[in-house]
Amino acid sequence: MKKILIFDTTLRDGEQSAGASMSVEDKVLIARHLNDMKVDIIEAGFPFASKGDFQSVSKVSQISKFSTVCGLARANFGDIDCAGEALKKAPKKRIHTFISTSDLHMKYKLRMNKDEVIDAIKKSIERAKRYTDDIEWSPEDASRTDHNFLYKTIDTAIQSGATTINIPDTVGYAIPSEFGKLIKNIKSNVTNIDKAIISVHCHNDLGLAVSNSLNAVIEGARQVECTINGIGERAGNAALEEIVMCLKTRGDLLPFRSGVDTKKITNISHLVSTITGFSVQPNKAIVGKNAFAHESGIHQDGMLKHSNTYEIMTPESVGLSSSELVLGKHSGRHAFKVKLKNLGFSFSEEKIKKLFEKFKSLADKKKQIFDEDLLAIADEEQIFSNRDFIELIDISIKCGLNKKATASLEIKVDKNKLKVDSGGTGPIDAVFKAIKKTTKSSANLVVYQVKAITRGTDAQAEVSVRLEESGISVLGVGNDIDTIVASGKAYINALNKLMIKKEKASESIESLNAANNDIDKHVI
Ligand code: KIV
Ligand code: ZN
Repeated sequence: MKKILIFDTTLRDGEQSAGASMSVEDKVLIARHLNDMKVDIIEAGFPFASKGDFQSVSKVSQISKFSTVCGLARANFGDIDCAGEALKKAPKKRIHTFISTSDLHMKYKLRMNKDEVIDAIKKSIERAKRYTDDIEWSPEDASRTDHNFLYKTIDTAIQSGATTINIPDTVGYAIPSEFGKLIKNIKSNVTNIDKAIISVHCHNDLGLAVSNSLNAVIEGARQVECTINGIGERAGNAALEEIVMCLKTRGDLLPFRSGVDTKKITNISHLVSTITGFSVQPNKAIVGKNAFAHESGIHQDGMLKHSNTYEIMTPESVGLSSSELVLGKHSGRHAFKVKLKNLGFSFSEEKIKKLFEKFKSLADKKKQIFDEDLLAIADEEQIFSNRDFIELIDISIKCGLNKKATASLEIKVDKNKLKVDSGGTGPIDAVFKAIKKTTKSSANLVVYQVKAITRGTDAQAEVSVRLEESGISVLGVGNDIDTIVASGKAYINALNKLMIKKEKASESIESLNAANNDIDKHVI
């Protein structure tokens, strides 16, 4: 079984998904999970793009003991030096530098000719070598690049010191047979290709990102770039969980292995979905709610007789427990701890104690506690605790038939506790108005959605709130047994994210304006 390196770009390309935003702490948390699940390389961000990205790459560098940490850089010295600086403390570091090579991109985006691009490749890789020997180079829009020119750029990159050559299908245009052939042609037309690892980075605009990546592996690629839940620019990237489970499940036709601990897939999928506010569609392969549910009578009958009749992989192999119904009011701390471990968490005793209290309080209100309930409690504790600028402390509501709804809230804004009352058309409207009043927010509510996390009238509610302000849009999420409280939490979560995003947008404009060096026109 040949090893396939898994390069996760959830924190870089994944964050480029419209409407997704992650704070530095969110990114560090996801990186901890990626490192624990033994992803080979974590692309932690694009350090030159903003202060937040710089900090994320720098902090991820300090906590990743297993995974190599990678920072993205365009072909200019400012970007590369910044990436080198951000990666300084990583035990294993990689700089990923790129420039467009297709005629279309060179003419309209870069306004550079082929010789200038070749020159930029040499200079950028040589510069990156000051910081590490592990250099990845990408010809952006490779799948629409003239083949002979592509071979020349790859040859130049390897001669200049690149150790990984990543072939991106930037616009998700390729089809599997074509993309596989491209990799095969690179192998036979680039004479020094055996000195580098071939990687692929496929976008999902035609829904072919995973198929294209796997065909590339069959033809000789040894690294696949992917993201958790397939998030990423536009239609997203190849989904990590699909790539890894294809390799694991179809070893008969795909004699390759990844080093990823697949039992951690469900857990990290849930975490990324909660942080970004992007729910996973129920029928999504591997991590969708229905991925292991058998609905029809014929299928259920088959499953009872032998699980292989309708199951090509086990739920346990991706970190789901076989028995769905798990704990209740009388469950003890030990059972709770074991359950968390089975779900892929490795919390400290102190955290477990805190989570157990939350679990007990939920179990007092709700008879049956499902895996999804525990994932929601654990994620809330990991993501939201102790670091939000705005925090909801308490809500009380008065409403009813023929009564005007009123809400009284206690909110902490940057450590100051504030009390506020507001009326509204209904209780949710009153809560949102009270939050807006306290925080003086001018954001517009564009989406409000409620879903039950599990079945039953006592299910926890998961509320999503999309806010928009000055062209910036964010999704906030909140969970609670009480829909109104969940709504308040979601609104506040969205406001916290909006602040991060606004800060980031202004930093990136500053940062891009500050670029001023000899090859700085190669900017994206
Ligand atoms: O899609 C793309 O081309 C990229 C590059 C930076 C590799 O994300
Ligand atoms: Zn990409």
